[in-house]
Amino acid sequence: MTRRIVVVGSINMDLVTQAPRFPQPGETLLGTGFVTVPGGKGANQAVAAARLGAAVALVGALGRDAFGDQLHAGLRQEGVDLAHVHRLADEASGTASITVAGGENQIVVVPAANAGVTPAHVEAAREVVAHADVVLVQMEIPLDAIEATLRLGHRLGVPVILNPAPARPLPSGWLAMARYVTPNQHELAVLLGADPAEDFHALMSRAPCPVVLTRGSEGAWYREQGEPAHQSSFEVEVVDSTGAGDTFNAALAVFLHEGLPQAVRKACAAAALAVTRLGAQQGMPRGQELDAFLGR
Ligand code: RIB
Repeated sequence: MTRRIVVVGSINMDLVTQAPRFPQPGETLLGTGFVTVPGGKGANQAVAAARLGAAVALVGALGRDAFGDQLHAGLRQEGVDLAHVHRLADEASGTASITVAGGENQIVVVPAANAGVTPAHVEAAREVVAHADVVLVQMEIPLDAIEATLRLGHRLGVPVILNPAPARPLPSGWLAMARYVTPNQHELAVLLGADPAEDFHALMSRAPCPVVLTRGSEGAWYREQGEPAHQSSFEVEVVDSTGAGDTFNAALAVFLHEGLPQAVRKACAAAALAVTRLGAQQGMPRGQELDAFLGR
């Protein structure tokens, strides 16, 4: 059965520069390549879930500018329902200036129209949320819109996965409304207002909701009750890690009905495939590609 996913989140144009290494402050480097590709955590998660076979609706905002037109057309082509993507007058579309060096990235996001996503936009999507299997939300949109998403999901009994990136401290009452939070170790510490050096098992046990913790090349840890379980990562050649977390979250949402261990395994595999190409959305796998990879 087709899974129905609603994503509430950001839409950006990614301006990606490839460089031999990251420049020091004040230093100018010669880069080796430049591409303009669609991104934004919300849009990335929507595209990844759609490629994995889900019916996806996105709640978000774009400017009425050229980037907005391109991003809108790209999402439409991926089959994402854009009825709740608002085109804001007098706003630019969000951008992310990304430098990629040695498979790692540095990102500066300018939210622009994404800062105009409101609780009213979330409430307006009530019907589509009510019919969803899972809602995904990240933190590149205003806090009140994130809170509205958690409250709406909670009220309607629809599980919400909160991907706390980029992390900010959140009230524990909000976290308690999430079905899962999906941070890395640093994000979990920030989210809980804890010391980032604290052992991640301890951090996980302190969270007021189940945690799926991503550890990059060390895979993921997940805990519903009792002791956390571990899923190893899949070995691939990393070209660009941008969008790996988004692919992970999307796959987790799409395969959640298969049980958490299987969903985390598929999420790690999908994220591994995503990092083999430049650009957030370029490497995101389709269902068949993921199956073939898992069946190797
Ligand atoms: O998670 C990757 C995304 O973060 C990029 O596509 C960029 O737009 C930033 O939002």
